[in-house]
Amino acid sequence: MELTLYASALFLGVYLVALAVRRFRFRRDRMRMAREAASSGGKVVAAVGEVPAGTVKKFWLICGSYRIDCFVVNHRGQFHAYINSCRHMVTPLDFVRYQFFTEDGRHLMCATHGALYEPDTGLCVDGPCKGLSLHALPVVVDRGEIVVGCPAGDLSFLREMAD
Ligand code: FES
Repeated sequence: MELTLYASALFLGVYLVALAVRRFRFRRDRMRMAREAASSGGKVVAAVGEVPAGTVKKFWLICGSYRIDCFVVNHRGQFHAYINSCRHMVTPLDFVRYQFFTEDGRHLMCATHGALYEPDTGLCVDGPCKGLSLHALPVVVDRGEIVVGCPAGDLSFLREMAD
């Protein structure tokens, strides 16, 4: 009986500490991102040279009260950024870590059920979410850096995709 009580108290303590650490990190990252956004209009996610044509770089954004996983793709020299969440189900495209492309490199692919997306528009052209689009994010290239911002308008749709 006593052992169970101690174990429960220990578990609760560990849980509360983890929660506090998580909140601290969220607030720290939100402040950091707000500072960056004030100076550059968004978050600097990479230098242009870090994302060669046909590659992807992942990053996170804090938009409102949500931390979201995102990625930027270089498609034929143009940068496009999206929330890393399939439109079929709320799961990252790279369920297999960092595998975003089909073998021929023409489409982004969700590893879970194989939905295919156009890299430049985010439109799902094949698979269970055909006709829907990835959630796009505003991207600018400024002095050799890729800067990505949060989506405009109502952010409540981010709730289901947030960490
Ligand atoms: S979760 Fe992406 S295709 Fe089903």
